[in-house]
Amino acid sequence: MSAVKVFVSRDTTALALGAETTARAIGDEAKKRGIEIELVRNGSRGMFWLEPLVEVVAPTGRIAYGPVKAMDVASLFDANFGQGGMHALRIGAVEDQPWFKNQNRLCFARVGITDPHSVDDYIAHGGYAGLRNALPMVGADIVKAVTDAGLRGRGGAAFPTGIKWNTVLGVQADQKYVVCNADEGDSGTFSDRMLMEGDPLCLVEGMTIAGAAVGATQGYIYLRSEYPHAYRALNAAIANAYAAGWLGQNIRGSEVSFDLEVRLGAGAYICGEETSLLDSLEGKRGQVRFKPPLPAIKGLFGKPTVINNVISFASVPIILEKGAEFYRDYGVGRSRGTLPIQLAGNLKRTGLVEKAFGVTLRELLYDYGGGSLSGRPIRSVQVGGPLGAYMPDSQFDTVLDYEAFAAIGAMLGHGGIVAFDDTVDMLEQARYAMEFCAVESCGKCTPCRIGSTRGVEVIDRIRANIEREKNLATLDDLCNTMRFGSLCALGGLTPDPVVSALKYFAEDFV
Ligand SMILES: Cc1cc2nc3c(=O)[nH]c(=O)nc-3n(C[C@H](O)[C@H](O)[C@H](O)COP(=O)(O)O)c2cc1C
Ligand code: SF4
Repeated sequence: MSAVKVFVSRDTTALALGAETTARAIGDEAKKRGIEIELVRNGSRGMFWLEPLVEVVAPTGRIAYGPVKAMDVASLFDANFGQGGMHALRIGAVEDQPWFKNQNRLCFARVGITDPHSVDDYIAHGGYAGLRNALPMVGADIVKAVTDAGLRGRGGAAFPTGIKWNTVLGVQADQKYVVCNADEGDSGTFSDRMLMEGDPLCLVEGMTIAGAAVGATQGYIYLRSEYPHAYRALNAAIANAYAAGWLGQNIRGSEVSFDLEVRLGAGAYICGEETSLLDSLEGKRGQVRFKPPLPAIKGLFGKPTVINNVISFASVPIILEKGAEFYRDYGVGRSRGTLPIQLAGNLKRTGLVEKAFGVTLRELLYDYGGGSLSGRPIRSVQVGGPLGAYMPDSQFDTVLDYEAFAAIGAMLGHGGIVAFDDTVDMLEQARYAMEFCAVESCGKCTPCRIGSTRGVEVIDRIRANIEREKNLATLDDLCNTMRFGSLCALGGLTPDPVVSALKYFAEDFV
């Protein structure tokens, strides 16, 4: 009989919940019982409440058990779990779970399924089909496919990816670069990390397609330094892609050459802002550059540079594989395709949900998230990271769509959703927004550098009931100055959480 294939995730969240001990226990128990197994360390399926999740390839298909602690392992063997045997932790096929079944996994199609390091496994599950199609195409046609698909940047600003690529394509230069923004600094976000840990070759493929599209031969992944597991996974995947001829000179005998390296970030939130990132990548202190010139014209080392988020790049292979129309058919309005949504905070079921745009916040919080973990009412959610507005229950029926969110003064950003129950102190959250900005400001412009510190002081005076009305007016004035006078979105958007907290939760400021 051939060895039973057993999957235990090596995703950071799974590891934090004990996946390493579980994997070791499975290996030890199999040895003890003389049972041959093939242990694969995959990415996470994104159902964090079930991690460490263990899957086996049983005669009837893939069967999952979870959450599996080391102490459960012996009983799993007793239950013959390798053949899909019954056990209290057996949940059946992941694809049959309602939480999973209704998702639209395009970008995350392979995450949690394949061996992240294996090029063969990647190809066996549809990988490199996009690049295979792109290699013989002229750059302008690749750019057109991305433009027609309606893909917009998933890093936060939602700028159309095809337009950015077209600018880089149109500039003459002896060297162009493709840079991936993998700094993922937003609170409550982890989709970049999960993708890089669970399917790093998808990012590698997306960046290679970008290189082929615009004529860039060198790529860099700027990875936040707090992601050691993603660092290892990316480097292993890149080495294997080189070995298999999917990176380097004349990829698979084509005219396209592309080299790729990973660089570790400098540990500052502002290094996620694209121009600071470029400074940091050049070895300088990360500080925001004035625009223009755009990075697309004068980017890394002064050369034309495509800079995109991990998920933006990872959305490209499927567009080149299945066509622009296939991708564009998902979504609503001008928000096309899917968004890997990250559910975090006070929710029963946190994790990753990839859905077409158009799902409502309420569906995500209750149908997917299962309501609050504490059992208390969800009072507010912050969507889009630390610069996102605090949304009240009356806005929970808003559909996930860049324009629908903008219309109510909120933003989707990188798709992180952090839920708070009714014990949250919204004045404290507003103060935190200002404090975060003060700590993370790059210091280049006054409204942000000084304004955020003054903001903390003003909110403290409101809390202490010192000249309340006067200080509320000052806070409003200060927010306007930051919004309209800051050089980048850190200072410019910090007022959003503050003003929304004041507007929808005024009772906390009394
Ligand atoms: C303060 C600040 C922090 C940012 N952090 C990130 C980040 O961590 N990751 C990211 O992809 N984009 C981040 N961005 C957005 C980038 O500046 C830029 O828009 C993005 O890299 C473009 O890629 P995209 O078009 O694929 O989204 C940040 C922006 C600001 C203003
Ligand atoms: S808004 Fe803040 S982070 Fe942005 S350039 Fe100005 S000081 Fe730097």
